[in-house]
Amino acid sequence: MKRIHMEASRAYDILVERGLLDQLGQIMAESIGVCSAAVIADDTVFSLYGQRTEQALRDAGFRVLHFVFPHGEASKTLATYGSALNMLCKEHLTRSDVIVALGGGVVGDLAGFVAATYQRGIRFVQVPTTLLAMVDSSVGGKTAVDLDAGKNQVGCFHQPSLVLCDPELLVTLPQEQYRCGCAEVIKYGVLGNADFFDRLMHTPICEQYEQVIEACVMMKRDCVLADEFDFGRRRMLNLGHSVAHAIESCSDFGILHGQAVAVGMAVIARAAAAKGICTEQTRERLLAILKQYDLPTETELPLDALYQAALSDKKLSGATMHLIVPEEIGRCRIVSIPSNEIRDWMRAGGIS
Ligand code: NAD
Ligand code: GLY
Repeated sequence: MKRIHMEASRAYDILVERGLLDQLGQIMAESIGVCSAAVIADDTVFSLYGQRTEQALRDAGFRVLHFVFPHGEASKTLATYGSALNMLCKEHLTRSDVIVALGGGVVGDLAGFVAATYQRGIRFVQVPTTLLAMVDSSVGGKTAVDLDAGKNQVGCFHQPSLVLCDPELLVTLPQEQYRCGCAEVIKYGVLGNADFFDRLMHTPICEQYEQVIEACVMMKRDCVLADEFDFGRRRMLNLGHSVAHAIESCSDFGILHGQAVAVGMAVIARAAAAKGICTEQTRERLLAILKQYDLPTETELPLDALYQAALSDKKLSGATMHLIVPEEIGRCRIVSIPSNEIRDWMRAGGIS
């Protein structure tokens, strides 16, 4: 079993091994203690893995309850959050108890926010079931729900007490969701590790899940350790995200997060090459790996709409935009620009 230790405002382990789900109860009993456990999941994941999860917990002596909501970003709302809190109250969950977030990033973000705020904060365990959640969202303690005004506009930092990644759960993941996870994995290669990037080119991610998850989690761990509350180095993890958020919003979330991140990385690589920050070879290597994983590199959404969406995203968070720009594969830098200059970067990145 791979064990990666995180020493943030809360210390915890991220465990990676095939078949770990069935040991969840035993591992939680040892590290957290036996108590009541509320499993929060979406309907798809609960129908696939709910019973096994609850059995593993009951076998170890936990009292188990669950809250299940319809899958998808549309459920990451204050309404779902409120319903979950009411259920916990009704079931008399106490501050000594624990929430288990069983699912992808939507479940993790929502259940994490529930855990952060229920009775002023209780412990939670992340059991990520998508590749994206295993390599990124389950680690680092960002929790949130969306508002009509924008994505992730209400939330807080609340670190989990344990993260348990079982790559066996990825066998049921639809191809489209697998590819979304691959976009985030490629992001880590571009950000901080050229050897890792080369490995992704030569061996498909699905043939090296344990190694890939471990490498990404270690890179994320290092960013979170350096900058838990996201004022500096952690911003690097947003490579491709300024454009991605605009694409998600303009497509009314019809374009998935990972697909939008792929286009965002391609746009920023083209712009970086056009501005002489990286070479054409670096740009081409990045575009080639995205295509190799069947990820989009272009968008037909119009420049004006994307620019307005990026600006309105920024109205919620400030006048300066921090772009993460590749200098070469394995090395990026933060370029801070006045928000209105994003239009020029988008155009230089091939958006018309
Ligand atoms: P998701 O949670 O919606 O999961 C994608 C789909 O896959 C869902 O329909 C789900 O039911 C299904 N699914 C999940 N696991 C499955 C499995 N093993 N087998 C079959 N189907 C399965 O989406 P996601 O891509 O995991 O996460 C995206 C969310 O994560 C966004 O809301 C994004 O904002 C958030 N995010 C958060 C962070 C963070 O640091 N907190 C980082 C990146 C993304
Ligand atoms: N996924 C971005 C972060 O955790 O900071």
